[in-house]
Amino acid sequence: MEHWTPRRTGDRTPSTGSPAQGERDPIQDTPVQTSARVIAVVNQKGGVGKTTTAVNLAASIAAAERPVLLVDLDPQANASSAYGIASPEAQLYNVLSGESTLPQVTVATELGHLQLVPAGPDLAGAEIELVSVEARETRLREALAEVLPYYDFVIIDCPPSLSLLTLNALCAADSVLIPLQCEYYALEGLARLQDTVDRVRESLHPDLQMEGIVLTMMDRRANLSRQVEDEVRSHFGEQVFATVIPRNVRLSEAPSHGKPILLYDIASKGARAYLDLAGELMHKHPGAPRKPPALPPSHQAN
Ligand SMILES: Nc1ncnc2c1ncn2[C@@H]1O[C@H](COP(=O)(O)OP(=O)(O)O)[C@@H](O)[C@H]1O
Ligand SMILES: [Mg+2]
Repeated sequence: MEHWTPRRTGDRTPSTGSPAQGERDPIQDTPVQTSARVIAVVNQKGGVGKTTTAVNLAASIAAAERPVLLVDLDPQANASSAYGIASPEAQLYNVLSGESTLPQVTVATELGHLQLVPAGPDLAGAEIELVSVEARETRLREALAEVLPYYDFVIIDCPPSLSLLTLNALCAADSVLIPLQCEYYALEGLARLQDTVDRVRESLHPDLQMEGIVLTMMDRRANLSRQVEDEVRSHFGEQVFATVIPRNVRLSEAPSHGKPILLYDIASKGARAYLDLAGELMHKHPGAPRKPPALPPSHQAN
C-alpha cells in the first residue's frame, strides 16, 4: 500500500506570500482558507447516504485539484472499501489509541489529490477503550491538527450512531453536513441530532457550524420525494444545498468496483450531482491561490 508524503498548502501558494489568516478572497469577498475545512458527514440513521456522500464529495473536490483527506470513522469501513481498501495494516483505530500518528496510517488513492485514513472493525473497540481515557472526545481533533495545513478539506464519514466516535468527529469538525434521505421519515431523528450538536457547542466546541443538509436518493417521479423536499426546504431554507442527489443505481454499484462514481461512470446522473454538490461547497469556501505545478526539468525554459 502506497503511503503518502504530505506537502504544505503554503507550497502551493505564489511566492508573493501565502495569504495571512484573515485575508479575504478579492472576487468573492469571503475569508481565504489557510487550513483545511473539516466537515463531519453525520446522521445517526443508517442507510441515508452518508458514506456515498463522503466518498463522492471528497472525490469531486479532489477532481478540482483541491487536496482532500477522507477520514473513515465507521467500524464498518464502507468508505475505505469504496476505495478498494480492505483490512489495512494500520488504520484510524491505531491513531485514536495513540499507537500511530495520522500521517502514518494515511494512504494514497487513485485520485492524486485525495488521501484516505482507512477504518477497520477494531474501531468498534476504540469506542469502549476510550471511555476511560482523558479528553476522550478530542482524540481525533488532536490527531488531525498536524495535517490540517496540507489539505483544503477534511471529510469525515461517521458511523450511524451518536456515539463517542461521532462525538470525536463533531469536536474535530468546523461544520456538520447532514444527508437526508427523501423518504417519509426523513426528519425523524433530526431533533436528536440537533440536540447533540447543541450539547457539543455548549460544552466542547462553541464554533461548530452547520454546513448544510443534502437531500439524497431523490426520485423526482415520486410525489413523496417532492413533498419531502418541499417540507425540508420550507423548514430549513438556506441551510439546504440547492443540489439534490438523485436515486441512481450507478452510485450503488461503484463501491463494489472499489471506485468513486467519477472513476466508475462519470456520465451518470449521480456523478453529475456530486460534482455539483462539490461545486457549491467549494464556492462557499474558496481556497488559497494556487501556483501551477512545477514542470519537470526537461520542460523548463532556460
Ligand atoms: N443516490 C443514491 N442512489 C442509489 N443508491 C444509493 C444512493 N445513495 C446511497 N445509495 C445506496 O444506499 C445504501 C446506503 O447508503 P450509504 O451511503 O452506505 O448510507 P449510510 O452511510 O448513511 O449508511 C448503499 O447501498 C448505497 O450504495
Ligand atoms: Mg456509512
